[in-house]
Amino acid sequence: MSSSGRTLAGIRDSITSETRIAALTGAGISAASGVPTFRGGPDSLWENERPKDLATPEAFRRDPEKVWRWYDWRRGVVAGCEPNAAHLALPRLHEACAGVTIITQNVDGLHQRAGSPEVLEFHGSLWTLRCTACGHEERNEDVPLDLLPACPACSGLLRPGVVWFGEGIDTRIMRASALAATACDLFLVIGTSGLVHPAAGMAMMAGKAGAEVVEFNLEQGGVSAWVDLFVAGSADETVPGLVP
Ligand code: OAD
Repeated sequence: MSSSGRTLAGIRDSITSETRIAALTGAGISAASGVPTFRGGPDSLWENERPKDLATPEAFRRDPEKVWRWYDWRRGVVAGCEPNAAHLALPRLHEACAGVTIITQNVDGLHQRAGSPEVLEFHGSLWTLRCTACGHEERNEDVPLDLLPACPACSGLLRPGVVWFGEGIDTRIMRASALAATACDLFLVIGTSGLVHPAAGMAMMAGKAGAEVVEFNLEQGGVSAWVDLFVAGSADETVPGLVP
C-alpha cells in the first residue's frame, strides 16, 4: 500500500471505459522474456560494455562494423524471445479502458508483437535501418544481417534506426509522448531505472499534470521517490494484476 492508502487492487477497480492510461516502459519489462537489461546485474549490457563504444554516432563513425556486430547480436537475441505476461497485459488493459498509449524506451518490438496498438518507440527500433547518406528508412527483420548493410536507394551505409547517446528524440514521437503523458488519468512506469532523460521526465510530467503514477520494478530507481504507488516485483508477475 502507498502512503496515500492506494493499493494495486484499488487502482485496478477504479479503471473504467473512460480511464486514459499511458505507460513508460524500459528494459525491465522485457527481462522475463530473456532480453538483457542495460543496468543492474552482472549480465546487463552496460556492466560489460561502455555506451560510448557502441551507442554513439562517434562510435559508429569510428568502427561501424563493431557497432553493427553488437546490434546484429541484439537482434538475434530478441528474435529468439517472446512477449511475456507484462507485455500481454497491456493490450488487455487497452480494451478495458479508453486506451493505453505506450511510450517505450525499448527497441525490441515486443509490445507490438504482444498486440498493443499504440506504441511510441522513444529510442527507435532494432528492426529499422536508416541510411547515413540519404535518410532512407526501411524495416528489416533479417537475422543475422549481411554486414555492412547498404542502402537500396543510394548504396550509402545503413545504420541501426535507434537513438544513440548525444542524439535527439524524433520530434513527432516527443510531442505524442508529452501529449499522452499530460492527458492521461493513470501513468504506469514499468521496468525502467528512470535515469535516462528525456524519457524519465515523462513520468514527472504526467504526475505534475494530475495523473496518478504507479511504478512496477524489482527495486526503487530514479522516479520512485515521488510516485503514488510503488509495486515491487517482476513485471510479468505484477502488471497483470492491474487488468480489470
Ligand atoms: P535499465 O537497464 O537502465 O533499467 C532496467 C530496470 O528494470 C531497472 O530499474 C531494474 O530494476 C528493472 N528490472 C529488471 N528486471 C525487472 C523485472 N523482471 N521486472 C521489473 N523490473 C525489472 O533500462 P532502461 O531504464 O530501459 O538507451 O534504460 C534506459 C535507456 O538506457 C535505454 O533505452 C538505453 C539505455 O542506455 C539508449 O540506448 C539510448
